[in-house]
Amino acid sequence: MSFRIQPTAPARPNRCQLFGPGSNCKLFAKMAASEADVINLDLEDSVAPNDKDMARANVIEAINTVEWGNKTISVRINSLDTPYWYRDVVDLLEQTSERLDMIMIPKVGCAADVYAVDALVTAIEAAKGRKKRIALEVIIESAAGIAHVEEIAASSPRLEAMSLGAADFAASMGMQTTGIGGTQENYYMLHEGAKYWSDPWHWAQTAIVAACRTHGILPVDGPFGDFSDDEGCRAQARRSATLGMVGKWAIHPKQIAISNEVFTPSDEAVAEAREILAAMETAKANGEGATVYKGRLVDIASIKQAEVIVRQSDMIAAM
Ligand code: COA
Ligand code: MG
Repeated sequence: MSFRIQPTAPARPNRCQLFGPGSNCKLFAKMAASEADVINLDLEDSVAPNDKDMARANVIEAINTVEWGNKTISVRINSLDTPYWYRDVVDLLEQTSERLDMIMIPKVGCAADVYAVDALVTAIEAAKGRKKRIALEVIIESAAGIAHVEEIAASSPRLEAMSLGAADFAASMGMQTTGIGGTQENYYMLHEGAKYWSDPWHWAQTAIVAACRTHGILPVDGPFGDFSDDEGCRAQARRSATLGMVGKWAIHPKQIAISNEVFTPSDEAVAEAREILAAMETAKANGEGATVYKGRLVDIASIKQAEVIVRQSDMIAAM
């Protein structure tokens, strides 16, 4: 490890973030009754311009009146290039109860975007005497966002999570696709006439995970647009989990169980991780730094890998 110790990310479950348009009141109770860890009430791109004021009022009322249980409640505000975002922040901070946990800032392109929201939130919290500090989460969904991902990850002590927004990201990058996540037909290698599909989101995801882990933030995979394709969604979620992401958005209730399944370490994975830890305890007692587990090398790095799985499992079990 570097002299600078890697900070730990917030210890709260974030396997599934369920989105719903702030303009669609009939969804709120269903969202509250769902199995999602995080609820994202949307004021941004699922709300038409003429509905922005109505959606904001709906969301404030829903935060104050719906029984949300122990979920993390977040509101996605409008991006900083719109005339809506400051009113989103002011009204949310002035009119919601302490039940509001987080504000999600979309289309973040540099650390100053987060700074601006942080400054406004800080002033209103002080003016209103709010006791619970509002956390922030951001979406990386532009060329600028991914180019500046590390400074964004370091931008504010309020920052808890960072998601990849595949659709806006693809558009900003000029990618030739209208798909939101998942396999893209034209992204393949040819070998002896056979096509092998590769993952066009891999680089952005890995950059986000590295920035997040460096600064103690939760890396999250964003939407998978084709909610009729359960297996495609599961495959996307499994790739994200393998790369170090802790959860994924759901844009339809069908996707919640998929995320919860993929981002909860399986009983087999936890049992194996515990066996590796036990094998390393025995090795340590024998004065060895490495040993053999099921025919393969395990060493001191394996302890840390196994601990990632056990910690995640313990945190979810403690919910
Ligand atoms: N949260 C909770 N419940 C939801 C839901 C959501 N996001 N989306 C749909 N449902 C409910 C429906 O109300 C319906 O309930 P019912 O069985 O009691 O009638 C059930 O799930 C099945 O819904 P379905 O008919 O398949 O979908 P739909 O046509 O009503 O809605 C969408 C489809 C995509 C418009 C809707 O899921 C949606 O608004 N998703 C979120 C979009 C969003 O927030 N985007 C921004 C982030 S990318
Ligand atoms: Mg977007």
